[in-house]
Amino acid sequence: MKVIEPSTPEEYQRYYELRWKILRSPWNQPRGSEQDDMEQSSHHLMIVENDHDVIAVGRLHFNSIREAQFRYMAVDIAQQRRGAGTLLLEALESKAAELGAACIVLDAREHALRFYHKQGYQAEGPGQVLFNTIPHVKMRKYIIL
Ligand SMILES: CC(C)(COP(=O)(O)OP(=O)(O)OC[C@H]1O[C@@H](n2cnc3c(N)ncnc32)[C@H](O)[C@@H]1OP(=O)(O)O)[C@@H](O)C(=O)NCCC(=O)NCCS
Repeated sequence: MKVIEPSTPEEYQRYYELRWKILRSPWNQPRGSEQDDMEQSSHHLMIVENDHDVIAVGRLHFNSIREAQFRYMAVDIAQQRRGAGTLLLEALESKAAELGAACIVLDAREHALRFYHKQGYQAEGPGQVLFNTIPHVKMRKYIIL
C-alpha cells in the first residue's frame, strides 16, 4: 500500500470514482454529487496498490488557520479492515500537522465511530444527517496541545 497525492487527470478520475462508489452510489446519488466547491482549495490523498489500483481516498481542508477538517474518507469494500483506513488517516494527519493544524474535526458516520475513536478522535455531539438517512457524529482530535 502506497499513499500518494493524485496529480494527473487520470489519478483524479480514479480518486473521485472511489469516493462516489463508496459514499454516494449506494444512496443512488448521481456522479458529480461526490464533489463540492472546496475541491480546488483542499488537499487530496489516496492509497494505491500495484502502482495503479486506488483502494482508499480522503480529503483535507482548513476551516481556520489551526483547524483542519477531513472529509470523504472511503476504503474500497473488498479492502476494508486491512489497515488502509488507518494508514490514510495517519497520512492526512501528518499533512495537516505539516500545514500548521492544531486540531482536526470530522463528521463520522455512526458505523465509523469506533474506527475514529481508536485513532484518538472524541465525539462532540450530533452532526448532519446526510440524505435524510445517514446520521453523523462530530468528532475532534488535538494534534498539538
Ligand atoms: C470507516 C473506514 C474508513 C475504515 O477503514 P478500514 O481500512 O476498513 O479500517 P482499518 O482496517 O484501518 O481499521 C482499523 C480499526 O478501526 C476499527 N474499525 C474499522 N472499521 C470498523 C467497523 N466497520 N466496525 C467496527 N470497527 C471498525 C477496528 O477497530 C479496526 O481494527 P481491527 O480491524 O484490527 O479490529 C472504511 O471502513 C470505510 O471506508 N467505510 C465506508 C465509508 C465510510 O463510512 N467512510 C467514513 C465516512 S465518515
